[in-house]
Amino acid sequence: MRIFERLDELYALGDRIGDSPEEDAAHDLAAGWFREAGLEVEVDAGRNLIGRTPGGGREIWTGSHLDTVPSGGRFDGALGVVGGLEAVERLGLPGLAVVVFRDEERGCAGSRARCTSGPLPDAFLELHIEQGPRLASAGVPLAVVSAIVGYSRQTVTITGRAGHAGTTPMADRDDALCAAAERVLAIRDAALAVPEAVATVGTLTVDPGGVNVIPGSVTFTVDVRAPDRARLDQLLAAMGLETGVGVEPSLMDASVLAATRSAIEELGLPVLELASGAGHDAGILATAGVPSGMLFVRSLNGGVSHSPDEHSSEEDVLLAVDALERSLARLAGA
Ligand code: GLV
Ligand code: MN
Ligand code: MN
Repeated sequence: MRIFERLDELYALGDRIGDSPEEDAAHDLAAGWFREAGLEVEVDAGRNLIGRTPGGGREIWTGSHLDTVPSGGRFDGALGVVGGLEAVERLGLPGLAVVVFRDEERGCAGSRARCTSGPLPDAFLELHIEQGPRLASAGVPLAVVSAIVGYSRQTVTITGRAGHAGTTPMADRDDALCAAAERVLAIRDAALAVPEAVATVGTLTVDPGGVNVIPGSVTFTVDVRAPDRARLDQLLAAMGLETGVGVEPSLMDASVLAATRSAIEELGLPVLELASGAGHDAGILATAGVPSGMLFVRSLNGGVSHSPDEHSSEEDVLLAVDALERSLARLAGA
């Protein structure tokens, strides 16, 4: 199937961290597909790639991102671009576009740039792998997204005192890594105490980093998420982190939700509605006032994502593209 062949082609480029030559190569590949499909290609001020059907008119956008996390999977972001192109190409209507936003994983730089510099579309519908186990547990292939969590990513530095690992008595040490370990566990405990919140320490650097040197300083990142600003700030405060910052939680647009819901119903499928625990470009556009929505396709392998084991079946992906096609047709008023 062409969609899976293209996902494989992108995957073969390796890790596509935002702003890397691999992300550039993925955008070049997509630009070629867009041209082959007869789309008019633009690269905007934020280096986002946009492929429009000829004929002008409204700006109904679909798409996602082509950057990845380190050791990511085949579907996160890429499915929304490749599947979006398939749906737009099949429809062949004026007023549709496929967008590839830059550097989503590290904080949605591309969609933020677009929202700052504009112009913005009439509507945005992003197809994405679910990245969790809920659809598989419910036994349904597709879902509509009602809301996207807010998150804040911050860096913490703990300063101790470097010294000799053999000659400094235990009682005289100020070991930055031991202090960091306590702080990491406190972060976990704080998140456990707030319903539907999560927090992750995903990177940690020990300085100077010698096998026989007491750690002098440790820097780590914290990714904190919650469904609303009140809970996010409550958690940030409990962790001693800055409040009022990060990506706002966002609600998806009722009319985009309705179009997507109807499309799924037309396929004779049940409609599940859920909130996304992952961040997405659709959340950035929604916060900027663009009527936005998301269509999720069932994750297999226990819902694992940000991992090479991330997977969806060909059958589900084809259903998702059918639903996307129908949703876009409704949004375009066709
Ligand atoms: C993006 O994938 C995120 O971290 O939610
Ligand atoms: Mn993604
Ligand atoms: Mn991701």
